[in-house]
Amino acid sequence: MGANSLEDSFGRRFSYLRLSVTDACNFRCVYCLPNGYQRSEGAEDHLSLAEIRNLVSAFTELGMWKIRLTGGEPTLRRDLLEIITMISENTAVKKIALSTNGYRLKQMAGELRLAGVSAVNVSVDTLNAQRFSALTGSGQLPEILEGIEAAIALGFESVKINAVLMKDTNESELALFLSWIRRRPVSVRFIELMPTGQTEAVFKKHHLQSNPLRMQLLEQGWTIKPRGPADGPAIEMSHPDFQGSIGLIAPYSTDFCATCNRLRISSTGGLRLCLFAEGNHSLRHLLQRSSQKEDLKQTIHSLLNKKEVSHYLPEGRYGNNQTFSSIGG
Ligand code: GTP
Ligand code: 5AD
Ligand code: SF4
Repeated sequence: MGANSLEDSFGRRFSYLRLSVTDACNFRCVYCLPNGYQRSEGAEDHLSLAEIRNLVSAFTELGMWKIRLTGGEPTLRRDLLEIITMISENTAVKKIALSTNGYRLKQMAGELRLAGVSAVNVSVDTLNAQRFSALTGSGQLPEILEGIEAAIALGFESVKINAVLMKDTNESELALFLSWIRRRPVSVRFIELMPTGQTEAVFKKHHLQSNPLRMQLLEQGWTIKPRGPADGPAIEMSHPDFQGSIGLIAPYSTDFCATCNRLRISSTGGLRLCLFAEGNHSLRHLLQRSSQKEDLKQTIHSLLNKKEVSHYLPEGRYGNNQTFSSIGG
């Protein structure tokens, strides 16, 4: 088993690992954790630094080279910088990215960059502070925006914003976001709302297709950029008058899953083959000693055969995904 040997039954290759380091979050986004994070009694602890080292070592030997740290909120983990430093010491890792709600970005941006993070994605669903509080339960929009400015100034290779598109809330903010990226090298990605076990009602009430937005942007002179080898699922668009770009994440669109290049690991070491799969496959028992690596690689290989061709969202099936916070979206 050598480099780039991770291929599923549909010929898709996997270079991008999304690793959740904690399922805890301090925000209460209406589409994710509307009642806030509650640790269930007897819940398993998150993976240790040593377990993560063994995990990353196996995945990189299987050809993965981009690692995104997610949560919950990853910066809630006290040893986050140690985790990043440890991962960046693995020379097979070419890119370390972080998805965050941004609440500590202003303080941590410098340390994150130094430790080895080159790309940050920050959730900002709205540029209106009042609406932001209503959607996330946090009054910190100004500090989060300052954190984003800090990340731009520090020269991160990429800074992206995630805005979940919602009917009757932020759907009217395109002009606001556009003027914000005119002189900022940031990608604003509009993500179509997706259903989860805890948020079915919100989905039914607020789901909105991104296609009208795409048509509007094309009419305004935006063009679609080619996809990079380990890019996420967004269609990226650019415009000569704007320093920033726009991304659209449309899971209901045809062939959305054809370019799937990523696997997910939960904070307790469960391999999740798809965001909307029926369950996780625990790898934790194989993360205890570095001598288990060949076994671990073999197990990952055979589990990959179970990966399905696509999600089944249009049929109303979304697996046992109760909330994105447990797997980092
Ligand atoms: P890049 O690596 O920067 O291209 O970003 P990314 O979009 O992969 O990462 P990010 O953590 O910012 O993901 C943003 C959101 O996109 C996630 O929280 C999900 O809502 C959605 N998303 C990412 N990957 C998938 C996927 O494989 N399937 C579906 N349905 N949604 C996804
Ligand atoms: N639908 C779409 N995106 C979601 N996220 C969380 N819950 C949902 C959902 N139900 C995304 C947010 C955030 C990331 C961590 O997960 O965009 O940026
Ligand atoms: Fe919001 Fe992300 Fe926290 Fe979910 S994990 S509540 S999307 S900040």
